[in-house]
Amino acid sequence: MEPYRIKAVEPLPRTTRPQREAALRRVHYNLFELRAEEVTIDLLTDSGTGALSSGQLAAAMSSDESYAGSASFHRFRDAVEELTSYPHILPVHQGRAAERILFSTLVGPGKLTLSNTHFDTTRANVELAGGEARDLPCPQARDLDGAGPFKGNIDIEALRAVLEGPEASRVVLVLMTVTNNGCGGQPVSMANLAETAAVCRRHGVPLFLDAARFAENAWLVTRREAAYRGRTPRQVAQEAFRLADGCLMSAKKDGIVHIGGFLGLRDSALAQRCELLLIATEGFPTYGGLAGRDLDMMALGLAEALDPGHLASREQAAAHLAGRARAAGVGIVEPPGLHAIYLNAGRLLPHIPAHRFPGQALACQLYLEGGIRSAELGSLYLGREDEHGEPVISAPYELVRLALPRRVYTRGHLDHVGDVLARIADDPGGVPGYRITGQAPILRHFRVRLEPAHDMAPASLRGGRV
Ligand SMILES: Cc1ncc(COP(=O)(O)O)c(C=O)c1O
Repeated sequence: MEPYRIKAVEPLPRTTRPQREAALRRVHYNLFELRAEEVTIDLLTDSGTGALSSGQLAAAMSSDESYAGSASFHRFRDAVEELTSYPHILPVHQGRAAERILFSTLVGPGKLTLSNTHFDTTRANVELAGGEARDLPCPQARDLDGAGPFKGNIDIEALRAVLEGPEASRVVLVLMTVTNNGCGGQPVSMANLAETAAVCRRHGVPLFLDAARFAENAWLVTRREAAYRGRTPRQVAQEAFRLADGCLMSAKKDGIVHIGGFLGLRDSALAQRCELLLIATEGFPTYGGLAGRDLDMMALGLAEALDPGHLASREQAAAHLAGRARAAGVGIVEPPGLHAIYLNAGRLLPHIPAHRFPGQALACQLYLEGGIRSAELGSLYLGREDEHGEPVISAPYELVRLALPRRVYTRGHLDHVGDVLARIADDPGGVPGYRITGQAPILRHFRVRLEPAHDMAPASLRGGRV
């Protein structure tokens, strides 16, 4: 059962189907552009959408808002140092600010970063700094149906090959994303992390953790890696941070705050250079773009995220939703992790080709049928077309992510999602594809405009055209 009781509630927005049809037309079938009050169950992201605890709210009330050297900063710093062992902790307003600061300092034209998978803003920040971000996921990651316990691992052989090959001098850092959000939220084993750390050390390349979901990764290690059974998630997390030279943290996930993050570093010279950028772009190093209350809530959130009761309840919620999807005949990326389940839209909607975006089609249908917001992770996110809309690059898989905000939705809400999925899976042939009518050159999924592909659209979506 959920390890909390509910003290404050918020009414769920309710809409009618005609209202949802009109909303979708208005936002050009881009779910990012919906108003939140038009969404009944919001599974767009688990980032910054968690519920605060009474302890966090109490800490916020007794925070110190001094510009420099606040007691809140020192409480935050002590908590993070105890967890990570890094002597330099730079608070930032969210994860991508830490990315920008670190990569502007270490990456430059011609430089290369290697990762199990770079998250999209991480890749964008490497590229904005002039570098190249290369993903080296393990081969098991390609098998969506495989039950491998650690499909988030980096491919150690591929990592060695780059670090021992002609490109070695271009590599400035290795980044391990835990859990691997770009690869179905799959965890990384401690064995893989330790081996990566050893390879990095041998080649003199620093290893960083993208630690947004460090607690969920640690939990899955205690559940799936024999050598760590019986350890607490905190012990596993501490060991993981110790294996690395630093971390980038978006605390909006496993910090259970609405805003916040930090950059953790061992290297004092690097920390000094990063601090200059921090002061110029985020704020003085004892607040880094955050209020004292944010720092106090983050310190507590990082501890609450490691509570075994919290993590077990998240694992069970994801497993429950995964079970409902499987029962409806909708394939998912196996095995389910904690922060999300990933639906295999390509398999459910084989009549929709990649450049008509089956993932976006399923995401729009979930909204139309049940007011559920989700995120496409397929060819809209990763693909490219030519000026005639013909595919140039398609994503390897057409997925839809149902992210689970922390401490927000109950089993009843997840059952609603399961019911809606089952209704869609009853008649998948009625779901239309979409074509792009406007897009930005990078991170296009955020602002893209679409319309139903008319040859495939049911009448209700065609608006005034029919
Ligand atoms: C793995 C990972 N890294 C980095 C980020 C970026 O963090 P933020 O949204 O706080 O900038 C995210 C956000 O979703 C993420 O999932």
